[in-house]
Amino acid sequence: MAQRNFILLGPPGAGKGTQAAALVKRFGVAHISTGDMLREAVEKGTELGRQGQEYMNAGKLVPDDLVINIVRQRVQESDCEAGFLLDGFPRTLAQAEALSAMVDELGLAQPRVVNIVVDDEEILRRLSGRRMCRECNAIYHVAQHNLDVGDTCPACGGKIYQRPDDQKEAIAERLRVYHQQTDPLVPYYTDRGQLVAVPGEGPIDEVRDAMLDRLAAGPDEGA
Ligand code: AP5
Repeated sequence: MAQRNFILLGPPGAGKGTQAAALVKRFGVAHISTGDMLREAVEKGTELGRQGQEYMNAGKLVPDDLVINIVRQRVQESDCEAGFLLDGFPRTLAQAEALSAMVDELGLAQPRVVNIVVDDEEILRRLSGRRMCRECNAIYHVAQHNLDVGDTCPACGGKIYQRPDDQKEAIAERLRVYHQQTDPLVPYYTDRGQLVAVPGEGPIDEVRDAMLDRLAAGPDEGA
């Protein structure tokens, strides 16, 4: 079976983690979230976690070489044989170029890119109300799911917590960094014929269906 790879692009809080589940299920690919990997490294107190923690809590990007290295190792693991879904990577042009070269070098398929489009006001609402499970990384929102910090995860029984970078100041910084460093990836992937754009502000199921339809229809026109 041919290998299929995907990238989920979109601002913090666009719903990348939420929608990743649908793509993983539909295409049987491995979910690779650089944010989850970095948070796990912080939790375990590894060298990577020590180096990344300060950047993450302040809403800044961790240095390109750190993230590129963890992705290079991860995409070669056995669960990526059918393909992978990158969530939160790449986030800079340098990361995108490194990924493209890495994929060619390893003989893998160039990924298709789904850009989830959501405006900044909605992002602020979503992230300030987001809560997560410390064990299984399930994603919730206080307005949609009747839970808050300290409660038990309905999926696995783990503890619910709030990410340190979901405080108001860090959210504003993440949005600033996103527009400055990650926005340029939209024309980059559009010009290469790899990108589809999906409106991300409807209900979760509608966004999912639009995403799967757009992928079936083919890439957006180049600029
Ligand atoms: P990362 O974990 O990747 O965070 P992010 O990109 O900021 O994205 P989020 O996880 O915040 O949001 P999401 O789009 O997944 O939204 P979600 O589905 O949770 O990165 C964290 C940090 O790690 C970075 O700041 C950086 O420091 C570092 N890092 C990671 N990768 C890096 C890289 N490549 N280079 C350098 N540094 C890197 O949804 C959000 C909320 O909205 C939830 O509550 C959800 O329930 C709700 N929601 C989702 N969809 C909908 C909908 N349609 N309607 C209503 N509510 C919805």
